[in-house]
Amino acid sequence: MFSSLGLVALTLASTVLADDLAVSVSTADFKSRFVQSGIVPEVIAALDPSVSFYASYRAEDGHTELLVPGSSLTVAEAGRAPLEFSVENLSNATSVNAQTRFLIYLLDADAPDRSAPNARNLRHFLAGNYTLSSAMSAVLPTAQRLTVTQQTFFPFTPFTAPSPRPNTGVHRFIYALYTQPPNFNTVGFESVGMELQTANWNLSRWRTQLGLGPAIGATFFSIDTGANGGLGVSANGSTLTGGAGAAGTGVPAPGAAAPGLAASLSVAGLAGLAATLGVMAMF
Ligand SMILES: *[C@@H]1O[C@H](CO)[C@@H](O)[C@H](O)[C@H]1NC(C)=O
Ligand SMILES: *[C@@H]1O[C@H](CO)[C@@H](O)[C@H](O)[C@H]1NC(C)=O
Ligand SMILES: *[C@@H]1O[C@H](CO)[C@@H](O)[C@H](O)[C@H]1NC(C)=O
Ligand SMILES: *[C@@H]1O[C@H](CO)[C@@H](O)[C@H](O)[C@H]1NC(C)=O
Repeated sequence: MFSSLGLVALTLASTVLADDLAVSVSTADFKSRFVQSGIVPEVIAALDPSVSFYASYRAEDGHTELLVPGSSLTVAEAGRAPLEFSVENLSNATSVNAQTRFLIYLLDADAPDRSAPNARNLRHFLAGNYTLSSAMSAVLPTAQRLTVTQQTFFPFTPFTAPSPRPNTGVHRFIYALYTQPPNFNTVGFESVGMELQTANWNLSRWRTQLGLGPAIGATFFSIDTGANGGLGVSANGSTLTGGAGAAGTGVPAPGAAAPGLAASLSVAGLAGLAATLGVMAMF
């Protein structure tokens, strides 16, 4: 009696555990989810990621979740700056070496309204000087973190919480990762004439302006402003129980003076990486 109950409990426990495990997403799946979502070609002409690029976020239930392409978030979940960024298979990107820095943005492709995105693209975050850390992701143990130090964190667009109006459709928010041209290791993007305005951000013009190649990785989430009185719904993602990731290395909270960034900044993990694949994305 006892033992069979115990067995049932054990089975349930491992089922729950398995459901909570974050799993890697292949670059092929990243690519196809961008097509399924309509982002390619509606917002971006093409995306051919060479790395799996992840962000994490704090879910309503307090758990830290892996953001996977297509994750559905509430406005509140999206409003907290990501706890960490991480990558897998960075060695698959071209022109990456131990000195390589990376830049990351977040934008709303459907501002102010999915049916009339007159402000496309609306930039919510842009910062450079990220480097590959030797620390692994707190959410996905096979992914390596991308971190930035307090001394090099000069976000061109500090994180601003997405706040899409209720009943303006399902907004798609895109994070993208680029290798940073070395000149920006010492100067900001304003040095090449980039403007602070966040609305109507023209990505192709911007890439030319900064001399960027295609994105090496990208991910996205959505907020359904028609659900839950405009607050959106929380769905999928992979849960990490135990609240790891509290020492954020993603984006400092708005108003905070670059807190707790980058406990570990070793780029040793990059040593010896070779450029192996070409990429052909267009954004
Ligand atoms: C990285 O490149 C290798 C070799 O081309 C490929 O087999 C692998 O699938 C790539 N990794 C990912 C995550 O796409
Ligand atoms: C891609 O990354 C995963 C996770 O680190 C690893 O298991 C896999 O071997 C890598 N694949 C290649 C081709 O590097
Ligand atoms: C990178 O950090 C340096 C300071 O070391 C700073 O001058 C430069 O503006 C930063 N670049 C970017 C793109 O944030
Ligand atoms: C973006 O800029 C390019 C020039 O770099 C231009 O051809 C294109 O029409 C612009 N797109 C929009 C939507 O303004």
